[in-house]
Amino acid sequence: MNPDELKTRVADYWNREACGTGAASAPKYSREYFDQIEAHRYEVEPEIFAFAQFTRHCGQKVLEVGVGAATDFLQWVRAGAKAYGVDLTEAAIEHAKRRLDVYGLRAEEVRVADAENLPYPDEFFDLVYSWGVIHHTPDTFKAFREIVRCTRVGGTIKVMIYNRHSLLAFQRYLAFGLARFRPFARVSDILFHHQESMGTKAFSRSEIVRFLATCPVQVRRTEAKATAYDLLWHKPWPCRAIAYALAACLGFHRCGWFMTIEAIKTGRPAATVSGL
Ligand SMILES: C[S@@+](CC[C@H](N)C(=O)[O-])C[C@H]1O[C@@H](n2cnc3c(N)ncnc32)[C@H](O)[C@@H]1O
Repeated sequence: MNPDELKTRVADYWNREACGTGAASAPKYSREYFDQIEAHRYEVEPEIFAFAQFTRHCGQKVLEVGVGAATDFLQWVRAGAKAYGVDLTEAAIEHAKRRLDVYGLRAEEVRVADAENLPYPDEFFDLVYSWGVIHHTPDTFKAFREIVRCTRVGGTIKVMIYNRHSLLAFQRYLAFGLARFRPFARVSDILFHHQESMGTKAFSRSEIVRFLATCPVQVRRTEAKATAYDLLWHKPWPCRAIAYALAACLGFHRCGWFMTIEAIKTGRPAATVSGL
């Protein structure tokens, strides 16, 4: 499948149901609907607050790439950032606009745009943030380079992408490889076909570090803490016990599905700055 076709499939998938809205039962676009989405999100993904640190960026020009149902985007606006948000889908942008209206809030801009071709000038933002997005686009590294391009020198980049060396990826292997008598199935193929939109990718930490060494950034931190999904919070206790035991062996900070990357734009490739 060529990249344009794949991107259309990705957009179709996320247009059918904006990301994270499945948890809500209240009437669509009502205040209760948005409250339910928000409550559920931060119950299962509490690590977002520690990573984003929304309130530290008050007054700054912030771009969120891939707003989805705009739950984090709402936090940027509430925290007083000059917030810009983009997403590939109309469904997401409609959610963002309705959500701001429901709470009586105002952002600088929300619009449909492709992470691989961001419609902003070089060095326009103090912070570019993206949670769980660019592993869905066909050219993840092109999207990452776009994020770096739009960040000002000295500005911050905060990106979460999926970690291939995680307990969740292993669970997917068990379910779609081993349990289907395909022990030699590749985790990357399984994720491509069975993880959210078609074409989803997950990366190892070393792949990301190698890529970032070619970008004008200094990496502050990469982490992959075990998440609710890795630790099977929604499953019976024997499953949770096994997941916790595995996480203890592998390292709670390394085996999580969410690989968070925080970097500062330097203006020179990382290899010459930090010796990565
Ligand atoms: C898993 S959801 C994450 C959304 C949101 N950041 C969140 O955490 O709820 C993935 C989102 O990425 C968006 N997306 C996928 N490819 C994209 C692209 N090339 N440019 C912009 N957004 C994209 C999808 O439309 C979808 O809203």
